[in-house]
Amino acid sequence: MRLTFTIQRFNPEVDSTPYPQEVRLDVGRGTTVLDALIRIKNECDGSLALRYSCRSAICGSCAMTINGSEKLACRTSLRKELERHGHIAVAPLRNLPVIKDLVVDMASFWKKIRDVHPWLASKARPSHEDVPAQMKAQDHGHPQFHNVDACIMCGACVAACTVHEVSKGFVGPAALAKADRFLSDPRESNASIRARLSALQDEDGMWDCTRCNFCVEVCPKDVKPMEAIVRLRRASLERGLTMAGGARHILGFTELVEQHGRLNEAIMPLKVVGFAPRRLRDILPLAINMLLKGKIPNPFGHALPGLSHLHALIQRVRRATPPG
Ligand code: SF4
Ligand code: SF4
Ligand code: FES
Repeated sequence: MRLTFTIQRFNPEVDSTPYPQEVRLDVGRGTTVLDALIRIKNECDGSLALRYSCRSAICGSCAMTINGSEKLACRTSLRKELERHGHIAVAPLRNLPVIKDLVVDMASFWKKIRDVHPWLASKARPSHEDVPAQMKAQDHGHPQFHNVDACIMCGACVAACTVHEVSKGFVGPAALAKADRFLSDPRESNASIRARLSALQDEDGMWDCTRCNFCVEVCPKDVKPMEAIVRLRRASLERGLTMAGGARHILGFTELVEQHGRLNEAIMPLKVVGFAPRRLRDILPLAINMLLKGKIPNPFGHALPGLSHLHALIQRVRRATPPG
């Protein structure tokens, strides 16, 4: 079949803005997007820049935006894309600086991975001689790490992340999933797990995730970064790390519902920001606006009837899943 590809081109050394280039190519039915791009580079335009290596969904280097969604080009079928979208449009990963055409600068991605210290930190390491016998996590009956260790560092989740889009400092789904991998490692001591969690409490850390689920949707290896973030949050709350706004939001929300049977928007902000004068001043204009529009309920309103049923339900949920 003869297809028209729209490829986003951009060479920062000569172009002021990215522009679309249309290329027509005859392709077979089993062709992947990467196969086609390699042919375009070899047969039509040698100046096209793209990154790839394994061509087998292993190395993670061919991640790009295909028809508006982050995918590995080497495992994306042209036929399926055409059936779903009626056209093929290819662009670099979003949220990362473009070096040229489809090649992005992954430096900030790698820095964030390094910042979560992706190595065993436990002091109780075995001596060098004992390594083969003692360093295998499988020996501790914990071989899976919730599939987080399947990550191939392709960057698709970071490109799709709605928080990273507006806040480049956000540690991001891939790095947080990597941090979670060490939480599940039986060779890590409690102290090092606590240190890992403490380091992720600040602004740009685990509580900045809005749980939009895009990282889960685009991950080609089913790592489910958002679920890893929820595990990090639960582990933080279990260890009493409750000072971050996100943690206070969860605890305040649960407390209010437990006490009154519903959320009370008049009290909730105080639960989240506490009584810090500067932060109260920041939310004051919003509070006044809400008050004038009748959106703030009576802070001393009565609890809903039937609270005992709600308490029983909360207890049951708590036993099954701690908050996060
Ligand atoms: S769930 Fe969180 S980490 Fe994942 S894409 Fe959304 S905001 Fe980013
Ligand atoms: S978590 Fe998934 S999408 Fe993110 S870098 Fe790893 S493999 Fe890629
Ligand atoms: S080329 Fe390695 S994952 Fe696509």
